[in-house]
Amino acid sequence: MKMGTSNIFKDQSLFVTKRLVPWILCTLLLLPITLLHLYFYPIFFSPEIQLPPSSPITITSHSSLSLPPTSTASSEKDTAHETPCDYSNGEWIKDTIGPLYNATTCNTIKESEKCIPNGRPDTGYLYWKWKPSPCHLPRFEPHTFLQLIRNKHIAFVGDSLARNQLESLLCMLATVSATNLTYGDGEENKFRRWHFPSHNANFSLYWSPFLVQGVERNQNKGPSCNTMHLDHVNERWAKDIDQMDMIVISFGHWFLLPSVYIEGGSVLGSLNCPELNHTEMDFYDPLRKVLRTSLNSIIERKAAKGSGIDVIVKTFSPDHFEGDWNKGGTCSKTRPYREEEKKLEGMDAEIRRIQIEEMENAKAKANEFGGFRLEALDVTKLALLRPDGHPGPYMNPFPFANGVQEHVQNDCVHWCLPGPIDTWSEILLDMIKSWKEKPRSKE
Ligand SMILES: *[C@@H]1O[C@H](CO)[C@@H](O)[C@H](O)[C@H]1NC(C)=O
Ligand SMILES: *[C@@H]1O[C@H](CO)[C@@H](O)[C@H](O)[C@H]1NC(C)=O
Ligand SMILES: *[C@@H]1O[C@H](CO)[C@@H](O)[C@H](O)[C@H]1NC(C)=O
Ligand SMILES: *[C@@H]1O[C@H](CO)[C@@H](O)[C@H](O)[C@H]1NC(C)=O
Repeated sequence: MKMGTSNIFKDQSLFVTKRLVPWILCTLLLLPITLLHLYFYPIFFSPEIQLPPSSPITITSHSSLSLPPTSTASSEKDTAHETPCDYSNGEWIKDTIGPLYNATTCNTIKESEKCIPNGRPDTGYLYWKWKPSPCHLPRFEPHTFLQLIRNKHIAFVGDSLARNQLESLLCMLATVSATNLTYGDGEENKFRRWHFPSHNANFSLYWSPFLVQGVERNQNKGPSCNTMHLDHVNERWAKDIDQMDMIVISFGHWFLLPSVYIEGGSVLGSLNCPELNHTEMDFYDPLRKVLRTSLNSIIERKAAKGSGIDVIVKTFSPDHFEGDWNKGGTCSKTRPYREEEKKLEGMDAEIRRIQIEEMENAKAKANEFGGFRLEALDVTKLALLRPDGHPGPYMNPFPFANGVQEHVQNDCVHWCLPGPIDTWSEILLDMIKSWKEKPRSKE
């Protein structure tokens, strides 16, 4: 992975993107082009993030839903919701139990997320649980999850957070049932599949950070801007829609990078690619359009076959870089924010709002056909409150082994495994359980 080769630049890129984008968009033409180029040239969310652990890392129809869940070793009572719980707001409270798995018991964890084996000294971040304001979120029950997805194929589609969440989920499921990788696309591992023979359930991972067709910019050579065709779904995943029973979509971070947007065969504009002379625009409208294109494709293709599907849109998961952008941002906090300490606002709130709106629009459209369930897995707030859950410098093994370096590469975007991202699947499970009580309607 290349993240470490351009430590400062990456942080510049994220800093500028996060805090200065609105300003940049207004005053772009007044800024020296070279400066912008320097800011945005290096890439953080590079495809290299998808490298498998074995790669050298050198840098610093849902009838089965009626199955009853068995009770497990969970010490907590399962709450059946009359109305679905709103999980999105709440607070992190102390928890003594800790995670279901560790890096020894799970072999699907990417090296850069093995925080404890990589030398992270504090473990307090493992002992918190999410308490939604209106209800209680039960602990993850791997047996129940597997029973509910018996004979199903669940696809995780999108960016590296999709991979991060699926790896977390697989670690939790693997505590009760053996799984094997049944497909891997070789070195980059952008596309993978796992099979649980115990329940004939499959999980697949599809790398598609734009969701639509596009060309990823290249850090070293080739285009310095991403290209996205806003009205053409990426067939690399969409061609398999027929085989999928549930799709979990994760995207957002790649939209902060310099990009050219194409629609109807012509260029709409671009973000931070001044050398191309296109109309400058922000990424919010493109972000909305790629989700609309993707959800429309799913609905149209399934409806054409007379079948439905479950679609989960996982909302944006904010990063936690802090510190001077030109001195290497870090995320050094070791405990969650309290609810009142950190507001959901600005870009994080806007991306989330667009994702939920488009999901709701698609849901209305899908209701004309019946057989569809669309929901948001709204993790933005609970992720925002966890600055302590990222690998930080422990994305690399023992980053301080040679003393404290001036610049140590930090990952303040992805999540340690185990870690707070495990909660996302607790919520996912509770959503699927509530569906069981309210089967998909065929109106
Ligand atoms: C990982 O979990 C296993 C099983 O619970 C336990 O035996 C082992 O000691 C744990 N390893 C670490 C490093 O915590
Ligand atoms: C899961 O994948 C296996 C091949 O690994 C296949 O035989 C099986 O039919 C698939 N099951 C589902 C539900 O997709
Ligand atoms: C996984 O693969 C290994 C080696 O092919 C095999 O021995 C094992 O039975 C498989 N396990 C499962 C759960 O399919
Ligand atoms: C952008 O515009 C400048 C000035 O008009 C011109 O010199 C340059 O060739 C243009 N670049 C592209 C890619 O069209």
